[in-house]
Amino acid sequence: MAALTALTKSLGYHCAKRSKISTFSQNFPSHNSRFQTLRTLILEPSLSESVKLNRLSDYDSGIVEVNLDRPEAKNAIGKDMLSGLRHAFEAVDRDSSARVVMISSSVPKVFCAGADLKERKKMTAAEVHSFVNYLRSTFSLIEELQIPTIAVIEGAALGGGLEMALSCDLRICGENALLGLPETGLAIIPGAGGTQRLPRLVGKSIAKDIIFTGRRMGGRDAMSMGLVNYCVPAGEAHSKALEIAREINQKGPIAIRMAKRAINEGIDREMISALDLEEECYEQTLNTKDRLEGLAAFAEKRKPIYTGE
Ligand code: COA
Repeated sequence: MAALTALTKSLGYHCAKRSKISTFSQNFPSHNSRFQTLRTLILEPSLSESVKLNRLSDYDSGIVEVNLDRPEAKNAIGKDMLSGLRHAFEAVDRDSSARVVMISSSVPKVFCAGADLKERKKMTAAEVHSFVNYLRSTFSLIEELQIPTIAVIEGAALGGGLEMALSCDLRICGENALLGLPETGLAIIPGAGGTQRLPRLVGKSIAKDIIFTGRRMGGRDAMSMGLVNYCVPAGEAHSKALEIAREINQKGPIAIRMAKRAINEGIDREMISALDLEEECYEQTLNTKDRLEGLAAFAEKRKPIYTGE
């Protein structure tokens, strides 16, 4: 408990001390794209060395990438990494220029190996309780971001790693992906949203099979049960995700936010109330410059340029 309290305090401290943004260039592996030369990124210092927040620029301005980078532990989530994740997603939440987020890994053959089991072994039950609550609320923060989120899965996404992907709007994996919720094999249950988000995504029966057995699935199987949106050849998940992010990034930003809100909040409502919500969300797009720009661009047979106003 004390450790988590310290973590939360330290988070507030570091948030208050957010230092200047620095710019650098980085080459990503084989993105077959005409925009590859524009991949100048802005790197924000994060609380944790293991989580990087990259804002893409030029043509890709508006696309944000949260990158997991803890190779020695296969991106397992310990206190430091959790703190970094929280910091990164709170920064995204505050950033009005962000239009779509990709969560990716720079560690080969792994998205995220879930909770840090070595650190966990040293925790008291009370510390585990606080840690898991904080992890759960961090994944809820991801789910509740107003803009679309895409998990880019190459290799293992296990336990909390898969739960993080489940809190995203879209999941894109390579054929070499290994997805599973192995918690019952450790005599616990998925505790960061897995028991709730998985059945909502793939149905109760399939979710029970996955959680009761702790089985690890490949990308194609995950695709066939609707666990991921796309399964692409190994190594191509990032370029596919970027392609989707770019498509979203060209749309009216207010429309995208309202579409996400209408779907997320409407799904659990009765139809009449859900359609009222749709009306409310539609209203938000009516008096916008972007709506007029969309109509003007159509009439002038050109691409619209949306500003989010
Ligand atoms: N927590 C802490 N450390 C972890 C970890 C985790 N969840 N997953 C992997 N690591 C560590 C390993 O212990 C190993 O450390 P070591 O070099 O000190 O022995 C290192 O990362 C490399 O792991 P390794 O298993 O050798 O890599 P791999 O490429 O063969 O397999 C995984 C990668 C992710 C498939 C495998 O490590 C794994 O199954 N991890 C456990 C995942 C899990 O059960 N998560 C659910 C938690 S509820």
